[in-house]
Amino acid sequence: MCGIIGYIGERNASPILFEALRRMEYRGYDSAGIATFDDNFIIKKGIGKISDLDKELNFREMQGTAGMGHTRWATHGGVTKENAHPHWSCRGEVVIVHNGIIENYSGLREFLSSRGHKFTSSTDSEVIAHLLEEAMKNHQDLKSAALSVVASLKGSYAFLAMTRSKPDTIIGARKDVPLIVGIGRGENFLSSDVFGFIDRTNQAIFMDNKEIALVTKDQVEFFDFTGKSISKKPATVAWEVSDFSKKEFLHFTLKEIHEQPLAIRQTLSQEVEAVREFASLILKAKNLFITGCGTSFHAALLMKYLLARKAKIRSEVFLSSEIEHQKYLMDGDSVLLAISQSGETADVLSAVSEAKSRGVKVISIANVMGCSLARESFKTLYTRCGPEIGVAATKSFTSQVALLYLIASEACSDLAMRKFLIESPDYVEQALEFEARVQEIAYKYMNANDFYFVGRGDHYPIALEGALKLKELSYVHAEGMAAGEFKHGTLALIEKGTPVVLMNPPDETYVQTLNNAMELKARGASVIGISTRPNACYDDFLQIPELPTGILYPIVESVPLQMLAYFSSIGRKLDPDYPRNLAKSVTVI
Ligand code: AGP
Repeated sequence: MCGIIGYIGERNASPILFEALRRMEYRGYDSAGIATFDDNFIIKKGIGKISDLDKELNFREMQGTAGMGHTRWATHGGVTKENAHPHWSCRGEVVIVHNGIIENYSGLREFLSSRGHKFTSSTDSEVIAHLLEEAMKNHQDLKSAALSVVASLKGSYAFLAMTRSKPDTIIGARKDVPLIVGIGRGENFLSSDVFGFIDRTNQAIFMDNKEIALVTKDQVEFFDFTGKSISKKPATVAWEVSDFSKKEFLHFTLKEIHEQPLAIRQTLSQEVEAVREFASLILKAKNLFITGCGTSFHAALLMKYLLARKAKIRSEVFLSSEIEHQKYLMDGDSVLLAISQSGETADVLSAVSEAKSRGVKVISIANVMGCSLARESFKTLYTRCGPEIGVAATKSFTSQVALLYLIASEACSDLAMRKFLIESPDYVEQALEFEARVQEIAYKYMNANDFYFVGRGDHYPIALEGALKLKELSYVHAEGMAAGEFKHGTLALIEKGTPVVLMNPPDETYVQTLNNAMELKARGASVIGISTRPNACYDDFLQIPELPTGILYPIVESVPLQMLAYFSSIGRKLDPDYPRNLAKSVTVI
């Protein structure tokens, strides 16, 4: 969702801000803008892609050594040039960019209008600029003006503000939305993610909730919302600028699909003690709950099957967005395992906060260092799969699954499982070799309007994931189902040629799943079987390598599903990296 970047240093700010916004495009946005300060503010903004806007607005010609940029994913106010950020105050004293939602904006707007402020947009964000301008009438220094602004705001926000009277300082404030300070030499950055400044520095200070930063080119000061000074140290970010290139691939999504063997190897290189400690928290829990959204929910569901099957541990899995509506019996004896690639998904964070309010111990799995979820958790293990730019989760899913397997193998002390798990990246590599065949099948079914994905047991969460991938990337209606459930209603939708992707590896689900496929075939379905060997029941066969243990098939069979979705998108001439209407991390509820 919205991306923000601020720069203050000795170089021309606009090219730096422009490149940062391009690196954050993956977050999803509909408009963008940049402000720099050179004697006075210069502001350019508009609707559409940054590169298209640049052709018209020449962002990189803007002068000044300090400034800020923004990509907006509309929430309050339509997609218009006026609503794009940066926003300014009516006397031009203040310019701001904001990510989040100001809940009390209409009351503030009324109050500010009564004081003579004129608004130029219909956003919630604009009130911040006017509030700061108003505060600066009564407060001499930026710190107390900023404190008075945050005292008036309700909601979630990360915002940056610059003032005409003190243009050598950028104000940053964080409440419930990430904001990171990048520490350079003679230059500093403020951004909603490390991608904003990773090309210039790997030294990052992750702001905590209810903190304000005053950033000049050589100095950064932090305060909490009561005005108390805070001392914070930079951490080194492991990601590199080369992670942000597509390398030899046409799309980030395809690159990330191919990166999976390496990503899983990195995931599995966890410190043994940390995994042991994590597993022991799961073992000690009287009640175990697991949660996530979208793809991460599918990983959560798989963990439920795995824990029951391998470690005889009972768990309850729920969609994070449903926590309020399901009266789960969570208490101080419960542990909640929250799973999220970004660690910023609002639904997950709100489930975590609800669970914590009931005394639950929260542990988590995330991919992005310093994310909000990790901050809210008692313990976090990182998937370490590197940045995932494609909006659709691919390598982050298989890495989550690999890490969950590692934790489960520790929980049930299954050394054999762990040994096979360590070998799993080799099998993922082999699965990738069938790419050309997957492409053929994707093109063969290009005219299908509905797809079904079915599997039993731990292949059911993978069937759900296969359907989600196809929907996101190709905009084709798809449904994932437990194979045995089809005959209870959905069978009515099967017509001649309806494609059904069958998760059918040779494990204990094999025969029953085949029987279900026969029922589907008898009604005209075209069965696309994913297995290690062909079967007469399959109309089309997608091969995966034979594994030494059945338990690992969910990791390997995810690969053809991802490729099927990718090529279905390519065949339809869509952009698989940035599917319409979607954002990489969903920071609204
Ligand atoms: C996955 O392909 C989707 N983009 C989406 O479902 C995603 O998994 C979901 O929004 C949760 O994101 P998170 O893992 O960052 O919490």
